Amino acid sequence: MEIRFEKREKLKDKPDWSNLGFGKYMTDYMFICDWDREIGWHDARIVPEGPIEMDPACMTLHYAQETFEGLKAYRREDGKIQLFRPEMNAKRMINSNERLCMPAFPVEDFVAAVKALVKTEEAWVPKEKDTSLYIRPFMFATEAALGVHMAKSYKFMILCCPVGAYYATGLDPVKILVENELVRAVAGGTGFTKCGGNYAGSIAGQVKAEKLGYSQVLWLDGNERKYVEEVGTMNIMFKIDGEIWTAPTVGTVLPGVTRDSMIHLLKDWGYKVREERLAIDDLMKAGHDGKLEEVFGTGTAAVISPVGELRYNDDVVVINGGKTGELTQKLYDTLTGIQWGRLPDNYGWTQLVD
Ligand code: COI
Repeated sequence: MEIRFEKREKLKDKPDWSNLGFGKYMTDYMFICDWDREIGWHDARIVPEGPIEMDPACMTLHYAQETFEGLKAYRREDGKIQLFRPEMNAKRMINSNERLCMPAFPVEDFVAAVKALVKTEEAWVPKEKDTSLYIRPFMFATEAALGVHMAKSYKFMILCCPVGAYYATGLDPVKILVENELVRAVAGGTGFTKCGGNYAGSIAGQVKAEKLGYSQVLWLDGNERKYVEEVGTMNIMFKIDGEIWTAPTVGTVLPGVTRDSMIHLLKDWGYKVREERLAIDDLMKAGHDGKLEEVFGTGTAAVISPVGELRYNDDVVVINGGKTGELTQKLYDTLTGIQWGRLPDNYGWTQLVD
């Protein structure tokens, strides 16, 4: 893939690196590549970041044929920049796109595009502790038409944005509300994909949780509202009586890159990891019986987020006295150590952008 470059007249002012928050400051450039039925992918380019022209009949605006990914570039202490398992994101996007009848962007082109953009935006990869450059690849239909069908044209784009912690609380535990009415995904649906529609449908649950003083929603399965699945922006894991439980990725749960990495670490440390269905009633009972030792969410944006409280209807369980658990902390230290290059990467998960 050849990538042409269009220079920006004036570079943007850089943000206050000590107060980045999440997703607020786009960098100077973005990557774009177009697809149509006749020529496939063409015109890969890195151009000044900014508004794009879109027909009001653009099918994405009406029927949400859109998928996205999230990964990060990390600044190591020696100044070099590295990515974490970018091929996993590329492959997951292909799986998402297959479900949504969208074209595949080849894995090697995906990684090459990410690397080229990050290299261009080197100066935007922050150095401050726990900060990184969040990378947002996304694809959407561009055809202007109001009939529902597989679109004839698409755009694949990548934005970058320097970020701090996803939650303002950082590594302090979050409180989570178990959603007892709305559902996120059903068998045969799009739950395993990273498509915008999954997130649009989840916002009502998020608003409800926030009104009650909770920062995220724990979704139950869409068929019986009985088994725990995932949290708004993360997969979730439970340490019960020394064993780790997490929902299996069987169609309704996002196969998270951080989730997969945690499972590798946990197994290597001798933990039994049960990728099995766990009923919410059994989870709350384990909490009341003193067996629910730790709960944590995993995700690229959130990294590892300890959960200090779970509420299901009127039942509330406080986990580990509302404090970050020992294992959660160890997982966080190990994963972030590998990602920022402070620890050796024995798994071959990182790759330099050079
Ligand atoms: C990520 O963790 O990268 C995500 O995509 C979550 C996002 C919805 C903020």
